[in-house]
Amino acid sequence: MPVSSRTQIGIVGAGPAGLVLSHLLYLQGIESFVIENRSRQYVEERVRAGVLEQGTVDLLTEMGVGARMKHEGLVHYGIELRFNGKGHRIDFQELTGGKGITIYSQHEVVKDLTNARLASGGPILFEVEDVSVHDLTSRTPKIRYRKEGHDYELTCDFIAGCDGFHGTCRPSIPGGELNTYERVYPFGWLGILAEAPPSSDELIYTYHDRGFALLSMRSKQISRLYVQCEPDEDISLWPDEKIWGELETRLACNGWKLTKGPILQKGVTGMRSFVVEPMRYGRLFLAGDSAHIVPPTGAKGLNLAVADVRILARALTDFYTTGRFDRLDEYSEVCLRRVWKVQRFSWWMTSMLHRFPGENPFDHRRQLAELDYVTSSRAASQSLAENYVGLPMDW
Ligand code: FAD
Ligand code: PHB
Repeated sequence: MPVSSRTQIGIVGAGPAGLVLSHLLYLQGIESFVIENRSRQYVEERVRAGVLEQGTVDLLTEMGVGARMKHEGLVHYGIELRFNGKGHRIDFQELTGGKGITIYSQHEVVKDLTNARLASGGPILFEVEDVSVHDLTSRTPKIRYRKEGHDYELTCDFIAGCDGFHGTCRPSIPGGELNTYERVYPFGWLGILAEAPPSSDELIYTYHDRGFALLSMRSKQISRLYVQCEPDEDISLWPDEKIWGELETRLACNGWKLTKGPILQKGVTGMRSFVVEPMRYGRLFLAGDSAHIVPPTGAKGLNLAVADVRILARALTDFYTTGRFDRLDEYSEVCLRRVWKVQRFSWWMTSMLHRFPGENPFDHRRQLAELDYVTSSRAASQSLAENYVGLPMDW
């Protein structure tokens, strides 16, 4: 017999979505229990996103977990688009009425949230096995798991599926209940983390004949750089010198110099757009990557996950305050309005900045015209800027 316990909200996954949700609920006096299958160290060291929208920064600050981010994060008020060997700045501050973005690693956000949750007594259980969800359409949905050889069953009022793209929650929804929308891109990103002061104060997105390249950073000492590669690229065929050479070629811009340094980490990321609708089945609510994936070109994945759980936390708070289901019933629809706009933006940035196999000279010239337009029309630059810094939250 499994050991039984009870909570209000069972949360599967201690990524940004699960941890932000758990802390938002705590601040409203709602109990939750977070179940994570990886170790705390693994989750806190996993290198992923790095760009936080203004709304994400504001929320983390309001939640009381923004102190280190404020101290260590780098605030940027623009990005550079580079093509035909020339750079063009998109000035976010001027185009959005003062908004910007903050460079602060996802794993640092996760560390801050984990510390805050554990300090306030919030249970996060790491290294659990065989996680499964049950009775999703009943009033008492359950999470079952194994930990150190023992079986457990957690009975909840609601379950939040915050377990990422490869998690267990979405596949537990019966076939036919979800509509899936997907596009897989015919390229990937080869990314490195290097001990090298960033060669630019702001991010540089480059369109080059040899493919896309991105210069980003994690701090004033650490650069994060990417080049477009094959979707199944064999990283062993990319010695450090080859990576630096490719970055130098693609990012070249009259007299500009790329700062190099020891490569600390390298990896290949696939590119996909993916959405399931609705983001709910019975008392299971999907949030973040478990419900949708965007290609990283718009730097949106983490921000979208946070936007979902902000809406879910409000809906759950409303339920516990009034006993009404209205906001929970609206959850999926409200999230999906934002999700699709962010999908559109991420797809558009990806389409504008990458070389596509099989494209013809017309496509190439059209992409250059798009870049020329975006960097020379105020209306077009403003559209990019308002999406990049983050669309307003609506309910
Ligand atoms: P996740 O961060 O994936 O968290 C899900 C959590 O659930 C994980 O901790 C996982 O271990 C846990 N879990 C999974 N299955 C189970 C289970 N069965 N039981 C219990 N726990 C489970 N976005 C950007 O904007 N820019 C980037 O540069 C960028 N780079 C990325 C690189 C990689 C390799 C990946 C995978 C994603 C990247 N993203 C990037 C996307 C961004 O990191 C995600 O959108 C963000 O992490 C979503 O947060 P989440 O909490 O929804 O999911
Ligand atoms: C990153 O710093 O990892 C990063 C920045 C911008 C992107 C994607 C990734 O669009």
